Amino acid sequence: MSALRIERVDGSDLDLRQALVSADLPTDDVEDEGRTFFRIVSDDSQAVGFAGLEACDGDQLLRSVVVLPGLRGKGLGSAAVSAILANVEPGSGIFLATTNASSFFARLGFIQVQRENLPAAVLATRQLSSLCPSSATIMKLIRPPT
Ligand SMILES: CC(C)(COP(=O)(O)OP(=O)(O)OC[C@H]1O[C@@H](n2cnc3c(N)ncnc32)[C@H](O)[C@@H]1OP(=O)(O)O)[C@@H](O)C(=O)NCCC(=O)NCCS
Repeated sequence: MSALRIERVDGSDLDLRQALVSADLPTDDVEDEGRTFFRIVSDDSQAVGFAGLEACDGDQLLRSVVVLPGLRGKGLGSAAVSAILANVEPGSGIFLATTNASSFFARLGFIQVQRENLPAAVLATRQLSSLCPSSATIMKLIRPPT
């Protein structure tokens, strides 16, 4: 698979919003403070997806991970997550919530954690407190990103 690079985009970016809406992922909070979004770009300069990080008092919520339909299943999602996590300061806990991709993230080193064991700032994010269904699986990265 070819190399990917990441480029910062604003939460108001229309392509980001459209990708999230079509993947049924939350958009209500994308313009709130503390979120950083990235366009994932292939070596031929095509956008292949998006992902975001949300600062949670020293920890990070990995969010809004989406590969464009038609490009899934080729390793781009895994490579995109690795590229994003390479930007996270060592020592930060990395958490996420997902309704349908827990086995994808498990392969990348995330394990399920119970809500009662989460740092307060992670639990207080809009994703976890209101936007994601209570049935969403919450996960934490347990090995350093490669
Ligand atoms: C989840 C997503 C980002 C994965 O991207 P991708 O480019 O298809 O992932 P990869 O090709 O790197 O997949 C790696 C492996 O995970 C598996 N996988 C991919 N998506 C999966 C999912 N939703 N659930 C379970 N396994 C999944 C793949 O089958 C592949 O396994 P294989 O190597 O045995 O074939 C993509 O399916 C997507 O955009 N989904 C919609 C948005 C979403 O659900 N995002 C996650 C919540 S934040």
